Amino acid sequence: MTEILAPDDAGIARAASLLAAGELVAFPTETVYGLGGDARSDLAVARIFEAKGRPSFNPLIVHLPDLAAVERVAEISARARDLARAFWPGPLTLVLPLRHGAVSPLVSAGLPTVAVRVPAHPLAQRLLRAFGGPVAAPSANPSGRVSPTRADHVLDGLSGRIAAVLDGGPCAVGLESTILLPDPDPVLLRPGGLPVEALEAALGVPVAIGGDAGKPMSPGQLASHYAPDAALRLNATEAQPGEVLVGFGPVRGQLTLSETGDLVQAAARLFHALREADRLAGPGGRIAFAPIPETGLGRAINDRLRRAAAPRG
Ligand code: TXA
Ligand code: MG
Repeated sequence: MTEILAPDDAGIARAASLLAAGELVAFPTETVYGLGGDARSDLAVARIFEAKGRPSFNPLIVHLPDLAAVERVAEISARARDLARAFWPGPLTLVLPLRHGAVSPLVSAGLPTVAVRVPAHPLAQRLLRAFGGPVAAPSANPSGRVSPTRADHVLDGLSGRIAAVLDGGPCAVGLESTILLPDPDPVLLRPGGLPVEALEAALGVPVAIGGDAGKPMSPGQLASHYAPDAALRLNATEAQPGEVLVGFGPVRGQLTLSETGDLVQAAARLFHALREADRLAGPGGRIAFAPIPETGLGRAINDRLRRAAAPRG
């Protein structure tokens, strides 16, 4: 049985004590719900892979409450510090040199680097402080499926497989964090909730785009990640017979990512819309998505949609 914990002091205390006992707790962040486990415990981290059915070569993001806590896990360069000051807490993950022994080697999949982030969600902050250690947390969904932005999405995929979910309502950003390798030259490993334009403005240098689906720089960038059951067609301006159309702006469908063409609203709704469209389309069904502009958060939305549309491998 998976416990559903209320977002109050008792819920936080229960979640922290489950984490301390090596159990898995899903919790809200501003991006998506994370499936948290003690990053220092091989057993807890192994349970994460097991619960998700995730290939074990895929390293996990370590969540910490502030920069001081990050510094106990990773080495911070001058550039990383500038980015941390500008964007933490928030939807940015940095890949930094790992401090040897700070987390289970399963977390970094044996790499000399570790992905770290400081989430902004107040419940994530409270949980991380109550627990007092690094929390490894991939998105709280079975591997290859749509990321959860509500507690009931988590339960859909993982009920009975994890100890608890801390229910914090819907996630504000709705897309996973942006992953950046800051040094020696900045490389974007995954577009996400922080637009790359904001990173470039803060860095004053261009960010190279890494991680194409054929030869992933970030091992999580598998082409068919985020796949719904239904077949997906992108850049559709109208529904073909039998298709569920998800609109955007002037393109109207059964569902919409944003009537007003607002990319922030579209990002926050994306994974919910994928699930809802999948449900409406039914077995063997087809989904079409309206075109989304390739700017700001639109890049990350299109990245997720292209992965969702990719043929399964
Ligand atoms: O918004 C988010 O980032 C969410 C919430 C829960 O915080 N977490 C999340 O984690 O999306 P996950 O495990 O689904 O994504 C981890 C990504 C993968 O693409 C993985 O390959 C990459 O981070 N990654 C982790 N460690 C890495 C490393 N050392 N070098 C390169 N990529 C790394
Ligand atoms: Mg994921």
